[in-house]
Amino acid sequence: MYLGSDALALAPFTNLIAYLEEGDWVVLNRKGASFYDKANQPVQRRAQRVAAGAFLVEKGNHRHFMAKEIYEQPEVVGHTLTQYLDMAAGRVRLPFEGKIDWASLSRLSVSACGTAYYAGLTAKYWFEKLARLPVEIDVASEFRYREAPLPENGLALFVSQSGETADTLACLRYARQEQQTVLSVVNVPTSTIARESDAVAPTMAGPEIGVASTKAFTCQLTALACLALAAARGRGTLSAEQEARHVQSLIALPGLMAKALALEPEIERLARELSKARDVLYLGRGTSYPLALEGALKLKEISYIHAEGYPAGELKHGPIALIDEQMPVIVVAPHDGLFEKTASNMQEVAARGGRIILITDAKGAAECGIEPETTIIMPDMDPAFAAIVYALPIQMIAYQTAVFMGKDVDQPRNLAKSVTVE
Ligand code: AGP
Repeated sequence: MYLGSDALALAPFTNLIAYLEEGDWVVLNRKGASFYDKANQPVQRRAQRVAAGAFLVEKGNHRHFMAKEIYEQPEVVGHTLTQYLDMAAGRVRLPFEGKIDWASLSRLSVSACGTAYYAGLTAKYWFEKLARLPVEIDVASEFRYREAPLPENGLALFVSQSGETADTLACLRYARQEQQTVLSVVNVPTSTIARESDAVAPTMAGPEIGVASTKAFTCQLTALACLALAAARGRGTLSAEQEARHVQSLIALPGLMAKALALEPEIERLARELSKARDVLYLGRGTSYPLALEGALKLKEISYIHAEGYPAGELKHGPIALIDEQMPVIVVAPHDGLFEKTASNMQEVAARGGRIILITDAKGAAECGIEPETTIIMPDMDPAFAAIVYALPIQMIAYQTAVFMGKDVDQPRNLAKSVTVE
């Protein structure tokens, strides 16, 4: 008999799992388990067999789980899309179709932690632009204590790879007691957050072993993009033709991600330079701003280089004081409606001797107006959901830098894969 905080941890020993409810306690002995609830009454907790191969994963021919998971992204994003798209009809079809009355919502509350929070922050742009649905988002550790007033019959959305993060689970319970409908985007369908939600939007990333989240992030973005399109259709802000066009853009994602992965040799060369940096600044506008935050988190958590993500437009309100010849500035900027604004921010940096690393497309490279130290040229794509593909170079930059520095990429110091405590 075994006790663990996550079915993944028990995978090497068993796939017969009985989940405890909040406040449960259990007496284990070699003959079996006796369960008691928080009132100390004996209870039954059904044991369920988790799919045998679901958790037993190998690195394959990759050096690290993180590398394997970065390379799995075209495949698992494709799997995730099959859960949300009726490809033949060119429309979104949610796994819980009809369960949410998007038109009745006055606002959407979103909460998550770390990389999952950045996925939610990206989705804020999509829900607001496509579905005209106001989104209030906060990190779970803040949301859970500020007693946020929530709208009558509102919808609360939680994003979590593990489905066990303590802060996010606490927010879910706060939202429930505030009579919200609870929707969660999770990667583990049997997790606590999934079991306590009214509706679950699954990500099909498969087990993510590397502590630094990669494939779960792009699968979260993919699921969230589909939710935003469903919300837009439900709120009458998206025509069938527009929806079909967006669906085609989503269907193109796995191919575009495969092309982005082919940039790894250039990124490996860039990583050698970055590994010498003491501090790195990431900049972005629009949905590239959450990517700037995510890029900084990825670099921090596996290479231990201090990094910070900033909205590019905020540079002149202080951070530009940091710029000198030592400071690499990584700018995430597909050639979209905000590109010109970001290009002027880059010119401000260049004028002060800043070292610019630009992640853009061919048009952006031609029109940026400066000579970046390095330019990573991404394939052309519909800018609407470009963040899902632009996540890959920022993941590879962090990975290659940490590998070059000899860090423990899969299990960085001080970090746990699932933060089940406050
Ligand atoms: C991501 O690289 C980090 N490991 C961490 O920020 C993680 O995203 C966060 O702890 C949330 O975890 P969850 O998605 O399992 O809730």
